[in-house]
Amino acid sequence: MNKGIHRCPSSLQMENTYVPELLDGTEEGLYLGLDLGGTHLRVLLLELAHGTPIREQVKKYHINSDLRVGSAIRLFDYLAECVSDFVIEQGLQDVELPLGFTFSFPMIQHSLDIGMLVTWTKTFNCPDAMNVDVVNLLREALDRRGDTKVKVIAILNDTTGTLIQGSTLDHNTAIGLILGTGSNACYLERADRVEHWETERHGEREVIIDIEWGAFGDNGVLDFIKTDYDRENDANSLIANSFTFEKYISGKYLGEIVRVVLAKLTKDGLLFVGEHTPGSLLVPGNLTSDLVSDIEQDSVDGGNSSTRKVLMKFGIIPDEEDVKIVQYVCEVVSNRAALLVSICLAVLLKRIDKESVTIAVDGSLYKHHPRLETWIKQYIPLLAPKHEFKMIHAEDGSGKGAALVAAIAQRLQERLN
Ligand code: GLC
Repeated sequence: MNKGIHRCPSSLQMENTYVPELLDGTEEGLYLGLDLGGTHLRVLLLELAHGTPIREQVKKYHINSDLRVGSAIRLFDYLAECVSDFVIEQGLQDVELPLGFTFSFPMIQHSLDIGMLVTWTKTFNCPDAMNVDVVNLLREALDRRGDTKVKVIAILNDTTGTLIQGSTLDHNTAIGLILGTGSNACYLERADRVEHWETERHGEREVIIDIEWGAFGDNGVLDFIKTDYDRENDANSLIANSFTFEKYISGKYLGEIVRVVLAKLTKDGLLFVGEHTPGSLLVPGNLTSDLVSDIEQDSVDGGNSSTRKVLMKFGIIPDEEDVKIVQYVCEVVSNRAALLVSICLAVLLKRIDKESVTIAVDGSLYKHHPRLETWIKQYIPLLAPKHEFKMIHAEDGSGKGAALVAAIAQRLQERLN
């Protein structure tokens, strides 16, 4: 982290988000949020009074897989189409609306409204957007339509949105964590520690830093924990040899690691002995992380019905031993993820070093996995015994956070004018 923040070679990008403060209670009016990066695309409208949301409208849009891996122009035209569909549906096409854009991929930020894409991750790969300012791509797409008066005024990461949304629930919030399709965290850093700062400074005391911990280990520093299963998981991923840490822990990959382990045990004649070869279990991507969560629920309840149901989907009728082995594999893989996340959070708590820090969390894996949170809450006190912390769920942090950051951005702009 220190190397990253001092701009020395590091697999932790430690990106300045240019969000130097939280809501201060003076924000008023209508703000739009656009959220791209997870399972769905979302557009939302927040009405704020005294910095607090008093009305919210959200609409989810599906993004086809061909849009996720096609040309950037097509993807951004679709984003603009969804924004204007939503705005027109709200009857707000003639109102000048500030928009915050949650773009949950690594970016180099030159300011609060300039974000150059470093690389795609998770389920996206539109190569022609690399090294391009995605705010500009969105503005151009909105201009091509010309049917609304939306103004893109801020770009942010989903972890930043989660931190800001969390801070409306608990003012001690200083960490935003996503455990979803991908995984990442951001935190409130002391401004004097931050070297990469391209805009004029105005006496900021703090600023949110996007760690981009998904890429941790891309320089080899985490190879010592890499197993053959991780290597196969990486080889089966959309972009191999990148996002080492994310591939150990996040929702896009946990199921795949479990699948790789089960396939190996089956091939070695240690699992599903006597069953016909479970062909579909051998297909990459077939065992998703929500199924791991279902199996984990059995381990919590001491049952086996979910595990059997999941295996039936693969045409497997397991015996008792098979069930235990499958549950054990899910536990080991999930527990490793919980421990790795806890180690990073413990380090962050020590770095922030405030009396009590609240960690705002969101993401599909966090919501659906029945015991990640329990484990994390057990491990952190062992790793950072002197640091008090709380974890809260910042529901839809990446969506609401987008609109909230737009409100902060507008306030900062008005202060300068
Ligand atoms: C990936 C992205 C990161 C995002 C995370 C969670 O790691 O690179 O920006 O925060 O996924 O969605």
